[in-house]
Amino acid sequence: MISTEAYKTVNEEAVTTWFKAAPVNAFPSNGGTCVQYKGKQIAVFNFSRRNEWYACQNLCPHKMQMILSRGLIGTHQEEPKVACPFHKKSFSLKTGECINGDECSLATYPVKIKDEHVYIGFKE
Ligand code: FES
Repeated sequence: MISTEAYKTVNEEAVTTWFKAAPVNAFPSNGGTCVQYKGKQIAVFNFSRRNEWYACQNLCPHKMQMILSRGLIGTHQEEPKVACPFHKKSFSLKTGECINGDECSLATYPVKIKDEHVYIGFKE
């Protein structure tokens, strides 16, 4: 059974491994892409409208669907967010909190861009 167990938020100070995911141009503007890392599916968002990048678990915790990389990104009172395509729950891309006030939340991961490549931070 799929569970959120494998996904824990990583703060930038705690990163032990920067995983080189792909070149920047492999990520569509203002959209998400799913990246695999050691059995985890990570949704990476190139929020080019804000000139920002975000990463979170691809698993929507509402009904355990691997889908969030296909979610719509936008802004809720200045907070960058992703809306799940299934039941439209929205999550902050900064904190992973559910903006609709639900209990479920996402694990988020730091992203850095170096030498035209996207790196995702993990703690191992
Ligand atoms: S599965 Fe994502 S909102 Fe329901």
